[in-house]
Amino acid sequence: MEDHRPARLWGGRFGAELDRALHRFTASFPFDRRLVRHDLVGSLAHARMLAEAGILAAEDARAVLLGLAGILQDVEEGRLAAHGEDEDVHTWIERVLRERVGDAAGRLHTARSRNDQVSTALRLYVRDRLRELVTKVVGLQEVWVEQASAHLEAWMPGYTHLQRAQPVSLAHHLMAHVWALNADARRLQAAHHHAGVSVLGAGALAGTSLPIRPERTAWWLGFSVVSPNSLHAVADRDYVLEAAFGAAVLLVHLSRWAEEVVLWSSSEFGFVELLDTVAKGSSLMPQKKNPEVAELIRGKAARGVAALSGLLTVLKGMPLAYNSDLQEDKEMLFDALDTAAGCLEAARVLASGVRYRTDRMRQALHGGYLTATDLADYLVRRGVPFRTAHEQAGQAVREAEARGCELWELPLDVLQRCCPAAERDVYHALHPEDAARARRSLGGPAPERVTEQLEAARREVETTRAWLAAAAEPPIYVAYREGRLLQGL
Ligand code: ARG
Repeated sequence: MEDHRPARLWGGRFGAELDRALHRFTASFPFDRRLVRHDLVGSLAHARMLAEAGILAAEDARAVLLGLAGILQDVEEGRLAAHGEDEDVHTWIERVLRERVGDAAGRLHTARSRNDQVSTALRLYVRDRLRELVTKVVGLQEVWVEQASAHLEAWMPGYTHLQRAQPVSLAHHLMAHVWALNADARRLQAAHHHAGVSVLGAGALAGTSLPIRPERTAWWLGFSVVSPNSLHAVADRDYVLEAAFGAAVLLVHLSRWAEEVVLWSSSEFGFVELLDTVAKGSSLMPQKKNPEVAELIRGKAARGVAALSGLLTVLKGMPLAYNSDLQEDKEMLFDALDTAAGCLEAARVLASGVRYRTDRMRQALHGGYLTATDLADYLVRRGVPFRTAHEQAGQAVREAEARGCELWELPLDVLQRCCPAAERDVYHALHPEDAARARRSLGGPAPERVTEQLEAARREVETTRAWLAAAAEPPIYVAYREGRLLQGL
């Protein structure tokens, strides 16, 4: 059988071809072809720097830059797809470049190795995906903020230990998820910043004797700093870990919300109904309406956790500098990012299709003595030490339980037997809605406090949107888009 194996980047010292099965075993092309656009952008910056430094003659630089730009354009416009038997995406690009521009292609790999090259492409890729995730985070935050602003006085039980605890509003509850996602946005932005380190020029591990200008490469790539150590440059995957961590925490947050959608849509809670467009049925039980989207968001969070722990395990105990183990970083990272993007999108659609049963929420304020703490706080305001107040309020709960009534249904004289400091105004503390309104501490459920949070959250969303608008494309990519790759050369 004829052997269709493509040219390798390293044939010289070998007398025989690599075993076919091992070629397949070691190849990363099936998955790193995702990096094709980012690797081309990295190569454009490298070629541009080589030309500026006088390492690449103008004529060769022109051929290489235009050749790379042509490939990039064909890939972006769908005329050319990265696939084949090549070892990896870098090999494929160099092969296609050689087919297009001939021998000049052989000068592109001057003063670099695939070790600094792959990390450059991956850094560019990670930054793009992080901006995508941040955009989707903001989209979901906005859905919840809108819903919260419509439910400032929709009272419901807040829970601890999944037991009804104290009255809060639906707005207060939804905003808790908004703030969790706000931390995700900031974490992803930090990961984006940390990924902005330029490593091209580190070579395989030990730099180069050629007069490169790494700060120019960094500038063209939109990276803020150059890696200070060539060994670290090729071995470092902290930016992969940080992106995976950001995705994992985000997924854990989404799974916690999704679990509430599952619980709340059950007949036992009945706090929400799902629109038909976001629920699924059973093939056997005709009556079923299942919260499968929420279940899958909850389930898929496992992938984020798995990816993070897998990546940490790949890196653990790895000696400096580059090792092939590092090739294992990609699939896990891609899965974490894809899963986070997919879950965010699904969560936004699902959240928009949730209808809140505020009547059921209000009903759930009954029977659980949710204002016993407010009774204790009331007694404290009247000078009773909290420990005593706690004890007395507990006795009032026992009394109400024995009579099968609510705390606010206890006659004043009965209340006063348990809580001697109580006066007629104690009933404000006992009614769930009044009690929630009175919890005006910072971050509490009182409508004016939640309104403040809503405003603060809207400002946070604005800040994130401004960051997204300012997070520019790498200058070399802009030059490519605007046909200015050769300008000044
Ligand atoms: N496919 C490799 C990776 O994903 C690229 C770097 C290969 N370097 C090497 N010396 N084999 O990490």
